[in-house]
Amino acid sequence: MTKVKINGNGSLLVPDCVTIPFITGDGVGVEITPAMRRVVDEAVRKCYGGKWRIDWLEVLAGQKAYDMSGVYLPEATMAAFREYHIGIKGPLTTPVGGGIRSLNVALRQDLDLYVCQRPVRWFRGIASPVLRPDWVNMVIFRENTEDIYAGIEWEAGSAEAHKFFNFLQQEMGVDKIRFPETSSFGVKPVSKEGSERLIVAACRYALEHGLPSVTLVHKGNIMKFTEGGFKRWGYEVAQKEFAQEISSGRLVINDCIADAFLQNALLRPKDYSVVATLNLNGDYISDMLAAQVGGIGIAPGANINYHTGNAIFEATHGTAPDIAGKNKANPCSIILSAVMMLEYLGWNEAAGCVVNAIETIFDRKMATVDLARFMENGMALGTKEFADELVRIIDGVSV
Ligand code: NAI
Repeated sequence: MTKVKINGNGSLLVPDCVTIPFITGDGVGVEITPAMRRVVDEAVRKCYGGKWRIDWLEVLAGQKAYDMSGVYLPEATMAAFREYHIGIKGPLTTPVGGGIRSLNVALRQDLDLYVCQRPVRWFRGIASPVLRPDWVNMVIFRENTEDIYAGIEWEAGSAEAHKFFNFLQQEMGVDKIRFPETSSFGVKPVSKEGSERLIVAACRYALEHGLPSVTLVHKGNIMKFTEGGFKRWGYEVAQKEFAQEISSGRLVINDCIADAFLQNALLRPKDYSVVATLNLNGDYISDMLAAQVGGIGIAPGANINYHTGNAIFEATHGTAPDIAGKNKANPCSIILSAVMMLEYLGWNEAAGCVVNAIETIFDRKMATVDLARFMENGMALGTKEFADELVRIIDGVSV
């Protein structure tokens, strides 16, 4: 077992053989995760000829964990992610029932993975609802720990909601709640530190990848202190940390109100490169952009803490119970998430090799059924056969 080491500044020291804990996931996870491992192993073998390699370590979560140990998220799994810093996961069923946190939210919160990073790009051959999907090429930095996702809310009619309303009315002088007896309440915490660390990570990413701008997307015209604060703190911290890059024009910081952004991202997506935004906006924006380039089956994601180096890469879709076990699932979301992981490790050749194979397979009009059915003369492959073909393409590449 060989671990990535994290230096004080969050940079990584990666051994030649790196242990990567992985969660297979529920539903289609059983099909897409092995497909991802085969493709990644082949790319790493092809590029580094055995000098560098991944030692996969399965850790349990979700239904499989529950069936084997009686808990959905065993402490051993959390411990492995803490110890090895970098991992990858398939989708997990959120257990139904009061008091059970979403497993994904639990992982993000426990490891304080404050950046939800979602690159969105189009692959030639993939059907899209927009005329120019090739204009979509953005990386979304969604704040992952604050906002109304903090889970502070009270149901209408509960004693807590009543108490909270009384506090607002009596202590805070709030008189604008129209139907207090039937109102539920939620709290939206947005902090300076939380906003700053997300925005600094977005700026660093833009600079390291030669991307021209970071757009702060917010609804500060309405929520002046939370979303407006995000924008103000964003400009301030960018100016403080990256003054030289901004004055030389290497980095442009701008902002856009969320509703205008949703319109602009459809009409002139070329205007945007790196996008930094709050949790709820980021949730909507990531899925809308994913739909422009082929949908959730192909949209990768990562949850990262750039200070501790901890990162979990993940398929962004759910367990797809309607197609689970049918060899129909598209493994591209988790494969492209693994590409992000390889890039994070600095194994850029292997990452590029997988991306090239995906470009090639789509050029040959081969895809899983969710994408093939919209391609002219598309050939639908099963999950396993799609991975087989990617492995064949990678094997045939001269490096
Ligand atoms: P879902 O993403 O599982 O499915 C929505 C639709 O997209 C379905 O028609 C499904 O067949 C299709 N789809 C999803 N992934 C696909 C793939 N790889 N290839 C082809 N088609 C695909 O969302 P749903 O049905 O709302 O949730 C099912 C379960 O997944 C729930 O328990 C939910 O809590 C969980 N979930 C887990 C997530 C995670 O672990 N990150 C994220 C979203 C949902």
